[in-house]
Amino acid sequence: MNSISSSKSTNLSGNFSVPGDKSISHRSLIIGSLVSGRIEINNLLESEDVIATAEALKILGVKINKLHDKWEVFGSGIGNFFGYNYTLNMGNSGTGARLLMGLVAGSNVEATFIGDESLSKRPMKRVTVPLKKTGAIIVSQSDNLPIKIRGSQIPLPIKYQSPISSAQVKSSILLAGLSSTGKTTIIEPSLSRDHTERMLKFFGANISTHKLDDMSWKITLEGIPELKPLNLNIPADPSSAAFPIVSAIITPNSKIKVENVCINELRTGLYKTLIEMGANIQILNEKEISGELVADITASSSSLKGIIVPKSRAASMIDEYPILSIAATRATGNTVMEGVEELRYKETDRIKTVCEGLRKIGVVTHETKDSMVIEGKGPNAKIIGNVEIDSNLDHRIAMSFLCLGLITEKEIIVRNTDTINSSFPLFKQKMNKIGANLNFF
Ligand code: S3P
Repeated sequence: MNSISSSKSTNLSGNFSVPGDKSISHRSLIIGSLVSGRIEINNLLESEDVIATAEALKILGVKINKLHDKWEVFGSGIGNFFGYNYTLNMGNSGTGARLLMGLVAGSNVEATFIGDESLSKRPMKRVTVPLKKTGAIIVSQSDNLPIKIRGSQIPLPIKYQSPISSAQVKSSILLAGLSSTGKTTIIEPSLSRDHTERMLKFFGANISTHKLDDMSWKITLEGIPELKPLNLNIPADPSSAAFPIVSAIITPNSKIKVENVCINELRTGLYKTLIEMGANIQILNEKEISGELVADITASSSSLKGIIVPKSRAASMIDEYPILSIAATRATGNTVMEGVEELRYKETDRIKTVCEGLRKIGVVTHETKDSMVIEGKGPNAKIIGNVEIDSNLDHRIAMSFLCLGLITEKEIIVRNTDTINSSFPLFKQKMNKIGANLNFF
């Protein structure tokens, strides 16, 4: 396993090319395998998580090829997966695992899902409970992988009220619901990212979203749609763009630009938060591609102030709290993050890992079960650094602390950085290209 050291840097500048969105990439392969015909995908994220999804789909019989600069998927329409005794290794990917569980639950397929050490600790009842209602038979020793699913030949359309706002749960149920006759309905407490809904609509499915009240949103899908084979362009990932953008904000004399970033409002909570904190961020050239809104984002060195980030914003920035915490160390005053319990169930317990890591460098942090407070040290405080942080097999923890090392007096060494490849291959090289000082250690 590699380690990377991050050392003090200034003048980050230039155009940063961020790879394709991870959530949309998974969905393009999975939903692409359900359209009636061949599609091409441009700018697919070629990271370990997404490749694990592609490999799993290939095991299930889908023809997927990498062409010179794009990918092709031969969809065989809804309800055309068959076979037994498959083993699907989803690696580190919660999204791949949970979405494909939905696909298998709604298909004439029996498959066992396995994953790496981190994924094997993550909760799966959030998807297995609703998927069982479709008629799928699900066998597991615990809440965790390995889990065997015998899909239902005639899946039932279900109505499910999810206790949590999770796009993985919602998408898993929708993917099972695609092959059931009738309407599948999910109610979630606040709207989670809607890439599945948008992509299904783009391909021609009948799917709608309604706000019922302040605590519930209803998503309804008509089963067995005919999905048209249309090509997809994947925008840059706002969760990955967050690392160079926060780096530019906290590093002196910096200005960078990231093009074609997905600015779906269910993904841009971090940007809203940073702007409220006083960050110099501009969002320019908005346009729509393949059913998603994209724009160019510029960011430059800024003075930040601490704010309260409300629970209502959590779903729209759930992956960005680690890097927000890094920005918060530079703010004047406290940054309070409310309603973030879901962070405890990510690749690692991100509240614990972030707070422990920041304490190591002398930043005062407070945590409760569902909140986190970072006491900002102000823009001019000298933070010594000179610590080692373990990624805990969490790519976003690894990248966040490498961004922090750009402003500490002495280097920060992050151990076990290979995990970065699950979402952001070439992170180190691309950061160095804008002037960051990251080195293999
Ligand atoms: C994702 C949804 C989020 C997010 C994950 C990707 C998706 O998880 O944390 O990185 O692609 O649906 P939850 O839906 O569990 O919040």
